[in-house]
Amino acid sequence: MNETAMMEFVGRAVDDVGSLLGGAMVVIGDKLGLYRAMRGAGWLTPAEVAARTGTHERYVREWLSAQAARGYISYGGDGRFSLPEEHAIPLTDETSAACVIGAFEIALGSVYATDTIAERFRSGEGFGWGAHDGHVLGGCERFFRPGYLNHLASEWIPALDGVESKLVAGARIADVGCGHGASTLLLAEAYPASTVVGFDADEGSIDAARKRAADAGLSERVRFEVASATTYDGSYDLVCFFDCLHDMGDPTGACAHVREQLFPGGTLMIIEPFAGDDLVDNLTPVGAAYYGFSTLLCTPSSLSQDVGAALGAQAGEARLRTTVTEAGFSSLRRVAETPFNIVLEVKP
Ligand SMILES: C[S@@+](CC[C@H](N)C(=O)[O-])C[C@H]1O[C@@H](n2cnc3c(N)ncnc32)[C@H](O)[C@@H]1O
Repeated sequence: MNETAMMEFVGRAVDDVGSLLGGAMVVIGDKLGLYRAMRGAGWLTPAEVAARTGTHERYVREWLSAQAARGYISYGGDGRFSLPEEHAIPLTDETSAACVIGAFEIALGSVYATDTIAERFRSGEGFGWGAHDGHVLGGCERFFRPGYLNHLASEWIPALDGVESKLVAGARIADVGCGHGASTLLLAEAYPASTVVGFDADEGSIDAARKRAADAGLSERVRFEVASATTYDGSYDLVCFFDCLHDMGDPTGACAHVREQLFPGGTLMIIEPFAGDDLVDNLTPVGAAYYGFSTLLCTPSSLSQDVGAALGAQAGEARLRTTVTEAGFSSLRRVAETPFNIVLEVKP
């Protein structure tokens, strides 16, 4: 027993307590517009931040102190605080690939299910995606959308063999497990000659996606349907799974269904969380976040469905290759990656 090592661990654990609570602080800062009010405003007193946001000074002072203790906000030593621009962009700009706001929202929403998921450890039952707190579904959309906005049409689609020209000319696209439809709408905006259908098993997500389409004026060109990945209909040039294959009960069945729905020469694009094939490769900060999400969200989602394959959010390319091969596809190629995603091109 090494006392020093133990106390080092206690220090790290205390830091994690601050992180957990810091997540709630970030969601509050986003929800109330505290970060947006501070961006570019220089040094402000708590009273000035409160006045700009219609909030109470005493709460704001405590929040600013908590955020300063975690290094999110700078403290001037004179009762005033400021938000560095390098922090303001990730905390306020949802068009930036550096945006982290959605990650906090989905993390906070996931944690609400802690007691339920602990009980599932004993029963072995699953917990469906749509049964989670609203922060999970809305946070998921905000978590992934900046990455899709910055990479999908500019890098990922062009990296697929012969797909971009088809989409520009006019093709049929299915976005399976589309959630709130962030990727579906970005595809429709980028390729106006193509038609895009978003499918998701969760009715509430499809309602939200239809609303997003109406707000964006895209209802004429985008359709959203409640459907499972193993039963939706139609024929397509491109089928996409955006960060959802591992959430499905039967990923092999879902891929086999794609084979049946693809036009000859069609392509399956799979976007999955970044992961190595071995556990040791994933013992990283990104891996820690994804294994946490996987325990609270992805694994229970899969276990709540038929088959319950539970690939997990850190499946890695080798397991995904096995999945698509078992479904009858013959080729899988990694065409792009970011610190958070891998992009796979799969062909019959
Ligand atoms: C992590 S979310 C990703 C949502 C969206 N693709 C995105 O990138 O924002 C996973 C989605 O997969 C959906 N899903 C899970 N299992 C499914 C299935 N068997 N069939 C269709 N959708 C499914 C969930 O309802 C949820 O919307």
